[in-house]
Amino acid sequence: MVLGAGSGIGRAVVAAYLAAGAKVLAFDISAEKCAGLEADFPQVRTITGDATDENDIQKLADLCEDQGWVGVDAMVSCVGLFDFYQGIEDIPPKNLSGGFDQIMRVNVLSNLLAAQVFLPLLRKARGTMIFTSSSSGFFPGRGGILYLTSKFAIRGSIAALAHELAPDIRVNGVAPGGVTGTDLRGAASLGLEDMRVPTGDGRDADLKNLTPLELAMTTDEIAQSYVFLASDGARGMTGTFLHPDGGMGIRG
Ligand SMILES: NC(=O)c1ccc[n+]([C@@H]2O[C@H](COP(=O)([O-])OP(=O)(O)OC[C@H]3O[C@@H](n4cnc5c(N)ncnc54)[C@H](O)[C@@H]3O)[C@@H](O)[C@H]2O)c1
Repeated sequence: MVLGAGSGIGRAVVAAYLAAGAKVLAFDISAEKCAGLEADFPQVRTITGDATDENDIQKLADLCEDQGWVGVDAMVSCVGLFDFYQGIEDIPPKNLSGGFDQIMRVNVLSNLLAAQVFLPLLRKARGTMIFTSSSSGFFPGRGGILYLTSKFAIRGSIAALAHELAPDIRVNGVAPGGVTGTDLRGAASLGLEDMRVPTGDGRDADLKNLTPLELAMTTDEIAQSYVFLASDGARGMTGTFLHPDGGMGIRG
């Protein structure tokens, strides 16, 4: 089950899970991206919906049961919105409350809704949840105040869920640094609806400069962390993170 599967890291997770032999259902708010997924991966069925609406997520769970699946092995969320580095002094006071609501709902609440909806299906398979954190869940400098607040909150959710749901379900996170080749967008409530994380050579060069390993990590490389966390090789891991960040975390 991959939410936020339409582009970027989520799309690469779909491809990596298929390559590992999994059956995959996918979910995204963009109908166009869902159609693109089904065109490129004909074995993947998609649901277009909003991950902040539990009724939409339930449609994905229903699709799973329609397929005759008795359980879900892995539920991944790569849903996310960015704040393009706006600090507390950059955000017009009139935008702060709405910006907080939107970023926290999309980046944090979506994970909790998916956890609640998929809990019965995950329990049946003794499955695993994998959420997408960021280096911004560990130190400042790679996002603004609201993005960092949301990514730190995801750490709290993962700790609480891992504790509550053991021993049946493992809950972990992946914390990339910067990633090349995604479509990460800005929050409309912050006036950032037309903003996209840049792609191309300039982005790659920036990321190489930022990482001790001098790497611009690709979505396919990031996706391998999700493959590992869903595998039996990770059966002893819960409440923790993989950091495919090119070593960014060493320097902060
Ligand atoms: N791009 C980076 O450098 C980077 C670094 C660290 C962490 N991340 C995190 O990785 C995750 C994936 O980001 P990405 O860079 O691949 O961006 P992306 O925009 O390419 O992927 C996010 C997907 O989520 C979908 N989405 C957004 N809001 C949704 C909603 N309400 N309901 C359903 N789907 C929704 C989008 O349509 C998109 O397909 C995010 O959580 C992001 O914060 C990204």
